[in-house]
Amino acid sequence: MTELVSYRLAGKIGVVTIDNPPVNAFSHAVRKGLLRRILDAGQDDAAAAILIVCAGRTFVAGADISEFDKPPEDPWLPEVLDAVEGCPKPVVTAVHGTALGGGFELVLASHYRCALNSARIGLPEVHLGLLPGAGGTQRTPRLAGAEAALELMTTGKPIGAGKALSLGLIDRVFDDELEQHALAWCEELIDNGSGPLRVSERSVPALDAAFFDGAREQLARRARGQLAPQKIVDCIEAATQMPFTEGAEFERQRFAECLGSPQSAAMRHLFFAEREAAKLKDVPKDTEARELRSVGVIGAGTMGGGIAMSCANAGIPVKLLDVDDAALERGLGVIDTNYAISVKKGRLAEDEAKRRRERIVSTTDYADLADVDLVIEAVFEDPELKKRIFAKLDSVCKAGAILATNTSYQDVDEIAAATGRPGDCLGLHFFSPANVMKLLEVVRGAKTADDVLTTAIRFAKAIRKVPVVARVCYGFIGNRMFNPYIRESQQLLLEGATPEAVDGAFYEFGMAMGPIAVSDLAGLDIGYKARMALPEDLRGSDVPFTVADRLVEQGRLGQKSGAGFYNYDPKTRRATPEPAVTAMIEEASRELGIERRSIDAAEIVERPLFALVNEGLKILEEGIAQRPGDVDIVYLYGYGFPAYRGGPLFYADSIGLDKVLSRIREFDERFGSGKPAPLLEALVAEGSSIAERFAR
Ligand code: 3HC
Ligand code: NAI
Repeated sequence: MTELVSYRLAGKIGVVTIDNPPVNAFSHAVRKGLLRRILDAGQDDAAAAILIVCAGRTFVAGADISEFDKPPEDPWLPEVLDAVEGCPKPVVTAVHGTALGGGFELVLASHYRCALNSARIGLPEVHLGLLPGAGGTQRTPRLAGAEAALELMTTGKPIGAGKALSLGLIDRVFDDELEQHALAWCEELIDNGSGPLRVSERSVPALDAAFFDGAREQLARRARGQLAPQKIVDCIEAATQMPFTEGAEFERQRFAECLGSPQSAAMRHLFFAEREAAKLKDVPKDTEARELRSVGVIGAGTMGGGIAMSCANAGIPVKLLDVDDAALERGLGVIDTNYAISVKKGRLAEDEAKRRRERIVSTTDYADLADVDLVIEAVFEDPELKKRIFAKLDSVCKAGAILATNTSYQDVDEIAAATGRPGDCLGLHFFSPANVMKLLEVVRGAKTADDVLTTAIRFAKAIRKVPVVARVCYGFIGNRMFNPYIRESQQLLLEGATPEAVDGAFYEFGMAMGPIAVSDLAGLDIGYKARMALPEDLRGSDVPFTVADRLVEQGRLGQKSGAGFYNYDPKTRRATPEPAVTAMIEEASRELGIERRSIDAAEIVERPLFALVNEGLKILEEGIAQRPGDVDIVYLYGYGFPAYRGGPLFYADSIGLDKVLSRIREFDERFGSGKPAPLLEALVAEGSSIAERFAR
């Protein structure tokens, strides 16, 4: 078995290699191994300098996140890195792949730093509700200044080696042969008699307190509700005010506070849930994906255009089909505008935008789809139309081509049955705008073949989406849960809440947008039509939607018509309340005989949110979702659920299922909000959490 941290001599250079696949995370064993190797190398008379490198695909990707839930074990990472920095011989680190979190902190603790041109470095701890806890908040500003350090740590975005070089975070960059170049540099250091250059011994230029106050204010808006970004500012400020050891101690305490916070637990859950969601429980791991080199998209509307862009952005050529030239021109016009905006905003170089755009060709002829590997249908939400299109695809597409529908609600099995190859069919449910939103629900039909699913997941990753697998039901995971959530939020209006109060309470809870504002965004007519198309058993009472339906009758369709529940500024799209809508809501309550009352923010949030959780549990019980984490990922990436609450099911566990159950029962008795899911009752009866029941 290879050692996790090995040591060898290359001439006068002691080479320490970390080899802990897949990403060389700093597990306890690696920390222990590195400490021992560094101390030994420091004592090795044959070594005049030390080089630290990593085996495999990447440099160290940080602390081992799976160990954060376990009791801490010595040596801690800061201790190991202090030993690296304290080494009496020059220590060089050489980065390939990514050096992230604790991995980059190792780089900062070394005396000389080099990287491959293609390498990236970053401090992404903030995405885990943490801050760099092994000296990163103290050493980064000493090399790159407080401003750059703040940007790196509060965005969590990795930067390329070139940028790191210009910021002074890396000293040398090489195009290839990293280890050879790094060894040559070590020789140079030895020949020049260069000793250790310790970052902790450098000073940080003082900065005005106003800079840090400004950063706190900005982050209170940009990272609303989150603890870690505020503590990162505190630590960087400490770096400008305190000697290194004091600053490092300050950092350690703040790190411990973050690590013990519910926010970090929630975000760590999402880290692993995202990776797990891409795994199919009952499909053999070695299932080979089909070749996927080209895509056809049917329908150049809102979704089809975004889907085509997602593929083109990832280098996949697209054939975009619509009924006639006028429809295609309209669709391509929107695509052109989107690319032009990206170029104008400096997010995309003009030549790259051109290359991407050129990957999309248009057609009105199905024969042009004969040789594509995957077709994604995104025409109107009309099941009969979709079936006709699938029958047509069956007759023109080559054998082995995958046929997908982007339907929001329709039965994927029925659509697949319109073809003679249901095994090749599935749902690929994108979210709007499809070129921006990261979620992709992969809807698995009863007959979808294993290799089709494997290909779909690989495709999702290739176009930089987060795939979550769902079985067939009305609305799959996301939209099915959303319906009772919206229903309850509408009902609250009739009982006494205003649209601003409902949206305000959810905004405070951390949602990107409240449910009433979301209804306006999606279009009140869309919700209306979808409800009307539902079979009786799924439709439920129309009463909660009394106001929404009246708004549709008045042509107030939401943002797209400039007015819905709110009025929208045509330029800024800023929402303002409309007194006539308030009067309409009050009148509807009167007509329905509902006595309006004052409803506090806690109840406003609990009613729709617990309805969401309840439906999520039904979905789990029916096997529509594979695991609770999948439901959480759908809500994180598809519906703007705050990451620091971990998704609806994690959140339900965190506040206690007994509380959720008793409130759902109470709401049902008082307002007829719906019965608790049998799974919820069973979990409370047996005293277990959702996570415990569905543990891996
Ligand atoms: N700890 C434990 N496991 C990790 C890990 C980590 N830091 N990083 C990745 N993994 C695991 C993943 O869970 C996955 O496991 P699986 O195969 O069982 O699902 C496997 O490694 C491969 O990961 P990805 O699927 O994400 O592989 P990619 O090639 O797509 O991405 C990566 C590689 C860019 C390194 C990405 O994994 C990543 O961003 N990792 C997390 C980096 C991070 O957040 N580091 C900071 C940790 S906190 C810290 O360092 C605290 C310190 O300041 C004290
Ligand atoms: P849209 O109305 O913007 O676009 C539909 C396009 O399909 C139009 O360009 C139309 O000309 C074209 N079309 C109609 N009949 C056709 C035919 N026979 N052959 C070829 N093209 C045809 O609709 P949108 O919003 O893009 O929705 C498309 C699908 O995506 C629907 O099934 C919808 O439920 C689903 N969806 C929509 C989301 C949204 O937020 N808009 C989100 C997720 C899924």
